[in-house]
Amino acid sequence: MAETRTATLSIDGKEVQLPILSPTEGPDVVDIRKLYAQADVFTYDPGFTSTAACDSTITFIDGDAGILLHRGYPIEQLAAKSHYLEVCSLLLNGELPTPDELEKFENTVTRHTMIHEQMHNFFRGFRRDAHPMATMVGVVGAMSAFYHDSLDINNSRQREIAAFRLIAKMPTIAAMAYKYSIGQPFVYPRNDLDYASNFLHMCFAVPAEPYDVNPTISRAMDRILMLHADHEQNASTSTVRLASSSGANPFACIAAGIACLWGPAHGGANQAALEMLREIGTPDRIPDFIAKVKDKNSNVRLMGFGHRVYKNFDPRAKVMKQSADEVLDLLGVKDNPLLQVAKELERIALEDDYFIQRKLYPNVDFYSGIILEAMGFPTSMFTPIFAVARTVGWISQWKEQLADPQLKIGRPRQLYMGSSMRDYVEVENR
Ligand code: CMC
Repeated sequence: MAETRTATLSIDGKEVQLPILSPTEGPDVVDIRKLYAQADVFTYDPGFTSTAACDSTITFIDGDAGILLHRGYPIEQLAAKSHYLEVCSLLLNGELPTPDELEKFENTVTRHTMIHEQMHNFFRGFRRDAHPMATMVGVVGAMSAFYHDSLDINNSRQREIAAFRLIAKMPTIAAMAYKYSIGQPFVYPRNDLDYASNFLHMCFAVPAEPYDVNPTISRAMDRILMLHADHEQNASTSTVRLASSSGANPFACIAAGIACLWGPAHGGANQAALEMLREIGTPDRIPDFIAKVKDKNSNVRLMGFGHRVYKNFDPRAKVMKQSADEVLDLLGVKDNPLLQVAKELERIALEDDYFIQRKLYPNVDFYSGIILEAMGFPTSMFTPIFAVARTVGWISQWKEQLADPQLKIGRPRQLYMGSSMRDYVEVENR
């Protein structure tokens, strides 16, 4: 970060010089860390619309151009040529792995897929109709009660083991949450299968008959995982970083990330988008729905559309749309009504002034649900699958943060608008 220029802020005639930091990509950043000490003022930016909360070398997004890079590599190239565990290794370690490094990485993840047998009891404590995200928040948080040898964040070996455990066990936990919710027995992981196939196996196999994973479906699942792996300082990642800044253990931090991801403005949008497509039902009902979205009193949003950073197509949505066509083709699903509604909805929205003016485009959640539903997942599993995929992003950012010598506890300030100091009034005098 070169620091050669400064910005001048003038407050009541007093001038403050603020360093300007230049990133390798993206807009310059005004460094306000010393502003309060120098000028006795805070900055105000709820929602962090103009504020960088950290520096990072993991992921870059150019929202105007619709570009997403992981460690410099475009997401389109990774989606076409790489696979999920290779992307995990890239995100965690900074470079594409050599064949030996990749083999070792895959072996280590594969050897950590089982969860402590006693953790099965946790699942049984939940109601069967619990949302799998609720179960995952609880069970992942509870990992801190089981894996005491990977809780010490000051020990680099323990940090590494925690990272592998989380990446390896998250599919097992998500699949168990699903199996429990439908009353089927848990299916143990199979280490002879690749990451995506093993996840599909744990979700869809039953002890009563053999289950063969379709390689094309497995490849589509692997691509979904890749497309969700990281997305720089989004709400759940920032939640993980904030939780971790206090020194909390990795399992507690990731449980916090899962809780944040669940919201419909974030990862919960994939479930909400599919439910919206179902509610619309047929293309002829789209104009009425669009009218509701544009009505400021309705509180209805076009789910799977819009993004804080992308003011252009989300590059992940383009790959996802193509994948939806491929998967439905493979499954012999002709004229899937939801896909028809989605494509027509996208076409109409992209020609509508409301969406054009606000630069609202389809995001990653618009088409993913159609693929997941075609694979046989209920809508309640869409966000857990996002959580499985995003775990590596959370862990990579957590690891980067802990290695940062400038790490400080995250502690925003506020614009206080409440009462000034006043005297307590006894209850009988109020
Ligand atoms: N449908 C209708 N109007 C929208 C939408 C939408 N999906 N998104 C934004 N707008 C409007 C919003 O009403 C506002 O209009 P106005 O200026 O007239 O008040 C304007 O666009 C700016 O919206 P905002 O809420 O200030 O934008 P934001 O950057 O704070 O919100 C967002 C970003 C993703 C939360 C929002 O676009 C949204 O709610 N989208 C639907 C939910 C969704 O698909 N979320 C997934 C995001 S991508 C994956 C992930 O992060 O997990």
